[in-house]
Amino acid sequence: LESFKKYIGFTSKSKLEKLNKIEGNENLKYFNGNIVWTKFKIEKVESDVEYVYDLEVEDFQNFIGNLIINHNSRWATHGRVCKENAHPHTDCKDEIAVVHNGIISNYRELKDELIKKGHKFKSETDSEIIAHLIEDLIEDNSEEGYIKAVKEAIKRLEGSYAVAIINKRFPNILIGAKNESPLIVGIGEDEAFLGSDITAFLEYTNKAIPLYDGDIVIIKKGENGLDIKIENNGKDVKREVIEINWDINQAEKKGYPHFMLKEIMEQPEILKISSKISSEEIKKLAKLIKDSEKVYFIGMGTSYHACIYAEYLFSKLGKLVIACDASEFLNKGVVDEKTLVIALTQSGETYDTLKAMRYAKERGAKVGAIVNILGSTATREADITVLMGAGLEIAVCATKTFTSQLMIIYRLFIEFGKLLNKDMAVYERAIEKIPKYVKEVLNKKDYIERVTKDLKVNNYIFISRGINIVSALEGALKFKEITYLHAEGMSAGMLKHGTISLIDERMDTIAIVPPKNSRVFNSIISNIEEVKARNGKVIAITPVEIETADYNIITPNVIEEISPIIYAPAYQLLAYYKAVQLNRDVDKPRGLAKSVTVE
Ligand code: F6R
Repeated sequence: LESFKKYIGFTSKSKLEKLNKIEGNENLKYFNGNIVWTKFKIEKVESDVEYVYDLEVEDFQNFIGNLIINHNSRWATHGRVCKENAHPHTDCKDEIAVVHNGIISNYRELKDELIKKGHKFKSETDSEIIAHLIEDLIEDNSEEGYIKAVKEAIKRLEGSYAVAIINKRFPNILIGAKNESPLIVGIGEDEAFLGSDITAFLEYTNKAIPLYDGDIVIIKKGENGLDIKIENNGKDVKREVIEINWDINQAEKKGYPHFMLKEIMEQPEILKISSKISSEEIKKLAKLIKDSEKVYFIGMGTSYHACIYAEYLFSKLGKLVIACDASEFLNKGVVDEKTLVIALTQSGETYDTLKAMRYAKERGAKVGAIVNILGSTATREADITVLMGAGLEIAVCATKTFTSQLMIIYRLFIEFGKLLNKDMAVYERAIEKIPKYVKEVLNKKDYIERVTKDLKVNNYIFISRGINIVSALEGALKFKEITYLHAEGMSAGMLKHGTISLIDERMDTIAIVPPKNSRVFNSIISNIEEVKARNGKVIAITPVEIETADYNIITPNVIEEISPIIYAPAYQLLAYYKAVQLNRDVDKPRGLAKSVTVE
């Protein structure tokens, strides 16, 4: 699901004023002192997401009405990708409209029950049953009757959901409900929003209320402005209003052709911020690591790669921590009260990661989280949270949030070492130089762009050894994610155990060469020679010129422990320029979403 343009809300007063000129229209009514449009206009398109942005410019500026719900779906969880299955879904009378994120696991039985009662369904989705169920439960036509029916309907849903519901008979009411999928209320001046994440409405307000599982929010626009009521299990609850300090200017490209390039180039600044973020929470987490018998770092995709970085770093201090793919944690995690599980998640909303956190908590483990988004579900469910300070990341592809995750882990490693009374001075001194080193790599961007012009094959392998296995895996992920070309990352040691038979002139190798003082430096040089002997092209990301390589992207020669942070911009730029050459949708690669809130 594409989240950041998925929002719903009341229009502002100024927009409503435009209505005066069309007074008398039968679809317009005065309602609690407001002029409201009591007709639905439902627009569904099967296209790329750009269409919605264009729509916004042309149509939504002249939008008449006081409520809008919008859902940009990247894929359908039930049924084909087609207009019929696109949200919003409505009831039989087309009076109630619903947008939904998540999966209703008991939708089959609910649907059968409703069909028996005569409901006609227009789509194959699980979501449509929500509108019909509400319709079915309405006992009287009053506002109370409608709200009661919504609450009853929500009670009957099983699975994950973030829903927004409107009813054309009550155009001053917007209802939201949440279970497992994220839902956040945005509070503006005389307007309110519901969104899957804060970025959906950050342009309009930085005040937000993150909802909890089981919450139902009823947003009502009356004569005295907005009334926002939250209930959980039938009881009124108060939820904290948080203020996001992000500058909305971060949501602009500032002259860059893509957000991804802007975010790559921002890394020296972001790393400075992450290196200075308050160390209190980091110290507490380091202490928990010391006191725990078993420590897991869990995450998905790029965040999982950051977990591997932790595994290597802590091993240097004799501490076994295990990096685990969060989606497999329930299958192999060994969890008890002496276990610490640290979740790495930029969004704080990744379904698999949250599920693993909950599993750990239920078994008495302590749960920590390293997160970028304040107020996200992970920050609320973890016992201790460290914020990364990477700022708003708009491109789907994680870049600056990845290096900022590595920075936080590196600081955790330093604090942990200090608790063991180790001399960590050399590591502490290295922190200050990281932004400068990263800048040096970014300065190679024109050369990297030239190199990508000579990447002409469809298959790529990224190899390294030691802690830079992280770079090999992450380099391959970035590359395949946005170029749509096949790429794999693995340890160079693994090459000889199968993959080397693939190497010829149709497979290029990106070799991430560890710093010169690394004990695996010489081994990787031999691996490069093996690839060359099989007519494979080699692009080396390396602190020293490797004669046998076809291209050398030279990086500063740093201590091995920080090298994965320094190498990241090199392979991020490699992926970026190749994707641009191939005309890919760099910021919004096909089939991907910024936060993956489903299993
Ligand atoms: C890749 C990417 C994804 C995310 C993954 C986890 O560029 O962005 O692999 O890293 O979906 O997301 P978070 O960190 O939000 O849990």
